[in-house]
Amino acid sequence: MFLTTCGNSQKLAQELARKLHAPYSPLTISSFPDGDLYLKYNRAVKGKKVVIVHSFQPNPNDSFLKVLFAAETAQDLGAKKVILVAPYLAYIRQDKRFHPGEAVSSRILGKHLSRCVDKVISIDPHLHRYRLLQEIFSVPGAALTSNDLITEYIQKHFPQAVLVGPDRESSQWAGKIARAIGTESTIFEKTRYHSRKVRVKMVKPIPLEGKQVVIVDDIISTGYTLIEAAKEAYHHGAKEVIAIAVHGIFAEKAWPKLRKAGIRRIITANTINHPTNRIDVTPLLVRELRKER
Ligand code: R5P
Repeated sequence: MFLTTCGNSQKLAQELARKLHAPYSPLTISSFPDGDLYLKYNRAVKGKKVVIVHSFQPNPNDSFLKVLFAAETAQDLGAKKVILVAPYLAYIRQDKRFHPGEAVSSRILGKHLSRCVDKVISIDPHLHRYRLLQEIFSVPGAALTSNDLITEYIQKHFPQAVLVGPDRESSQWAGKIARAIGTESTIFEKTRYHSRKVRVKMVKPIPLEGKQVVIVDDIISTGYTLIEAAKEAYHHGAKEVIAIAVHGIFAEKAWPKLRKAGIRRIITANTINHPTNRIDVTPLLVRELRKER
């Protein structure tokens, strides 16, 4: 077995290789003068299990193409097995045709990747209408969750906090973590008007007056979900608001916007490389990849 990456998850891939005592060999990736992609393996692939560690952020479209090239090439060169570790998988939120004529992106991603990988491992993929990765991919999938790691982090750093999920979908993180800790929690109700406009309301009230509130969600993209949730928490008297998310995309300068909204601390897992990374997911991935050794 050896580990490689198409660029986005170098640190994570190296760390995994170190912990698994397996070689790490990055790909050579560049562009021809006309923009065509060039990709090359720098280690013998034939008969090997090739683990491609690549988060689909930043640059999801570029990532999709690079991972396709890397996986197809590994197959072509005779790999025994191609395993994709995508700590953050893009396109999963487009899980149905919301408007006539739209592409169901998650299905397209699944169809193409399933042709060239033998297994997909991801962390907290946004499974909403889908319940399992196998509904997206026709190859085996392992959807790991960082819930226990976030639970530990909250217990250590914010033991007095009240937990909030900013929308119904977040109950698989915020609700479950609150139950594990045994702390008070509520799930807000979110209405999304479009990508950059949401409204968030506390519909099942719990006392927030003078409390430290930790908002837990899976993804920070534009940040508007968290900004509106923080406003709602402060409106109900919260003393301070902290945000924890698995995947920090921070699109369109979301990070400074979140800080401006009075969110005191923003913490993410290292599924996407970012200065807010405090929760290390390598133990989850190591455990899963050890099954392949
Ligand atoms: C949506 O259901 C997700 O769980 C997140 O709440 C959402 O993706 C966050 O997006 P944004 O930061 O753009 O509001």
